[in-house]
Amino acid sequence: MSAELACFEEGCRARFPITEVLYNCPHCGGLLEAVYPPPQGPPAEWKSLWRERRTSNAPLDQSGVWRYREFFAFLDDYSRVVSLREGNTPLLNGPRAAEYAGLDGITFKHQGFKPTGSFKDNGMTCGVAQALRLGMTRVACVSTGNTSASMAAYASAAGLQPIIFLPAGNIAFGKLAQALDYGALTLQVEANFDQILAMVREVAEQAGIYLLNSINPFRIEGQKTIMLEMMDQRDWTPPDWVVLPGGNLGNASAFGKALREMRDWGLINRLPRLAVIQAEGSAPFYDLMHSTDRSRLTPVTKPETLATAIRIGDPISWPKAMHEVDCSHGVVEKVSEAEIADAKAVIGKCGIGCEPASAATLAGARKLVSSGVIRKDEAVVAVLTGNVLKDQDYIHRYHTGKLQAPSGSEIPGRFGNQPMFVPYLLDAILSKITT
Ligand code: F0G
Repeated sequence: MSAELACFEEGCRARFPITEVLYNCPHCGGLLEAVYPPPQGPPAEWKSLWRERRTSNAPLDQSGVWRYREFFAFLDDYSRVVSLREGNTPLLNGPRAAEYAGLDGITFKHQGFKPTGSFKDNGMTCGVAQALRLGMTRVACVSTGNTSASMAAYASAAGLQPIIFLPAGNIAFGKLAQALDYGALTLQVEANFDQILAMVREVAEQAGIYLLNSINPFRIEGQKTIMLEMMDQRDWTPPDWVVLPGGNLGNASAFGKALREMRDWGLINRLPRLAVIQAEGSAPFYDLMHSTDRSRLTPVTKPETLATAIRIGDPISWPKAMHEVDCSHGVVEKVSEAEIADAKAVIGKCGIGCEPASAATLAGARKLVSSGVIRKDEAVVAVLTGNVLKDQDYIHRYHTGKLQAPSGSEIPGRFGNQPMFVPYLLDAILSKITT
């Protein structure tokens, strides 16, 4: 049996050929996932093959995604894969961040070290590979910024036309700039992410354009490798917790699937617990997971947060994310604008830095430690999803005391670091650095 698409709904599980252009199950409307037979042979051999490939100069092996290709074997021909050497992101210790959260230690898996500066690249190289295999010439996505930057880069590198839809006025400038530079046809629409996604699905269908939002199961397959690489770097010892921000919930779905498959295929011996963190003003998944009726997610119609990457009120992958949180005995937490902003400054002070949505992880971990859910001595890996330079305006506002929550209230900026102006005078300069 080779790779197939399968409906994610337990009561359906219909199967379809891997080469059909589908985003939802034609029978029941459920989400789709790629399914495979497990790699054959002893896990130790796979582990050493993947480790060996790190020293190879072959482009596929240099990619921190395609190096692990046996773990997501949906292609039968790798000759047209476009890699920008995605993956390969470090695990970084943040002692000050750990202290801030009340933990003995915290490790950041930093996705900002990728070609376009976010975790999206791992999924995009796979989504674009599938687009090429299907003979598509145009690809589209709606995005809070990072998906569009990544899709623009990979599509252009592959000779496909990238078409991106953005919520006007609500994406960080660095991300918009990337999309323009990578040559995307860029449409800013006066609606929010959820509203635009509903329309873009229609547009994609009518115009025959391949949709590369995270509803695309091949994006999820690529994002699985973030967990695979993390385990490889930890010599296959699972941490107790993996903490990640939640927006459209593609990552939560991908991480959970990866961890389960690693366990089922004998690569790890237990599952870490997932902790998905949302921003208070855009927390429909938090609400769902804390409600007595979990049969349906109630969308937040006007999602708000300065962490624009996760300003999403109707996350498409919630059924998968719910399953993964449950399977891992995980939790969902929400954090305030001020908590995100302060956590971001603390990550910055570690010399690491990240974009606002990523900092929800540290804010969430801190809250979960103080409520006793995460123990101080547990091993915590927090996934920083985007690069510090993505949203410079936010940083400047925070440090100069000008950051305002969407409600209009001031965010005090406990760790503000004001730049100082000094006259061109030796004494004046000395006085600033000796006080
Ligand atoms: N962090 C960053 C930096 C993101 O860009 C996103 C999502 C998330 C976290 C949330 O991940 O959707 O898998 O739960 N950004 C998407 C975009 C929606 O369009 O760039 P998720």
